[in-house]
Amino acid sequence: MSATPTDRVVVNSWNEWDPLRHIIVGVATNGCFAPSEHAFKYHNYDEQGRELTGPMPQHILDKGNEELDNLADVLRKRGIRVDRPTAIDFSQPIITPDFQIPSMIGSMPARDVLLTVGNEILEAAMSYRSRYFEYLAYRPLLQHYFESDPNFVHAAAPKPRCSDRSYHVDFFLNDRFVNHEHIISRANNQHYVTTEEEVLFDAADATRCGKDIFVQHGFTTNLKGIDWLRRHYPNHRIHKVYFLNDPDPIHIDCSLVPLRPGLAMCNPNRPMVMEPGKETLFERNGWEVVMAAKPAHTKQVPLCSYSIWLSMNFLTLDPKTVICEETEVHQNDQLDKLGFEVITIPFRNAYAFGGSIHCATADVYREGDCQDYFPNQ
Ligand code: ARG
Repeated sequence: MSATPTDRVVVNSWNEWDPLRHIIVGVATNGCFAPSEHAFKYHNYDEQGRELTGPMPQHILDKGNEELDNLADVLRKRGIRVDRPTAIDFSQPIITPDFQIPSMIGSMPARDVLLTVGNEILEAAMSYRSRYFEYLAYRPLLQHYFESDPNFVHAAAPKPRCSDRSYHVDFFLNDRFVNHEHIISRANNQHYVTTEEEVLFDAADATRCGKDIFVQHGFTTNLKGIDWLRRHYPNHRIHKVYFLNDPDPIHIDCSLVPLRPGLAMCNPNRPMVMEPGKETLFERNGWEVVMAAKPAHTKQVPLCSYSIWLSMNFLTLDPKTVICEETEVHQNDQLDKLGFEVITIPFRNAYAFGGSIHCATADVYREGDCQDYFPNQ
């Protein structure tokens, strides 16, 4: 059940680990194949080599929804309130004065669109044209929160224009013909598909640790986006990070995952690079940084454009409890050894809609307030 107008809502969440009380879980409903666009490399083809476009087949949507609904049920059974977005007709084209695109994608990965910091939920300045109106699926919820919580701040970043000037338009064109080293060296030199024409960021490029917010510079967030976040949150410290050897630097939650005060997890294949002077921020503040266990799978599921490192895209329910994908046995074993209660659920059918459990959710309320976990800057 979604929130009804009589349920009182409080929006409050400062980090990724405080006890969770209220969350949004995305839906696969009306999901479409991602249309071709400058910002995005992956396309799906049928057996005749024709690009798949428009609505996804109903049985694929149903399987995704089954797992998303189950996630919602498991959270509810633990006393966590769950809201769901209202899918719109994502097969509609988008036409603005600056671009046209034949369809949208869907509203499963709530994390990508909504950034909760304290009593504010911010709609991101997303770089994909096909995701331009994705926030509309969350508007019924955000409007309800606005009516219910007098302290809730509903914010939206400036809408990007997403004209051709916002992209290196030929960035992915020859990727099928160039070698992997070229793709890696391009990323390691921080040469990404988006330009610095305007502010661009996805909410999932940020991870929150109280006063400190780490933001990934990559395909979906540019330097202007990070600068905008820095100005928008003057009481926080925004740290630019990027990750080496990642051919598709999109969203921070398979690369750096804070687990609880003093403990973070990094992707062993993607060394993290921080701003000069901040390289030892974690060490200087007594944080342990563990390398994530290797994924249990060597291949991603069909229709999923993300890497096998969705293994580390779990959701923390409190500093002692995590909810993870059930087949990710190595990751789950590692979390168990780190002292967590590990709840497991099936989720691989949901991957096709934009990622794993962390991607599919967005915080509304976690207990606790804004603390400084990195006093030694
Ligand atoms: N770039 C990540 C990987 O493939 C996927 C991140 C997905 N996260 C999300 N919030 N949608 O390793």
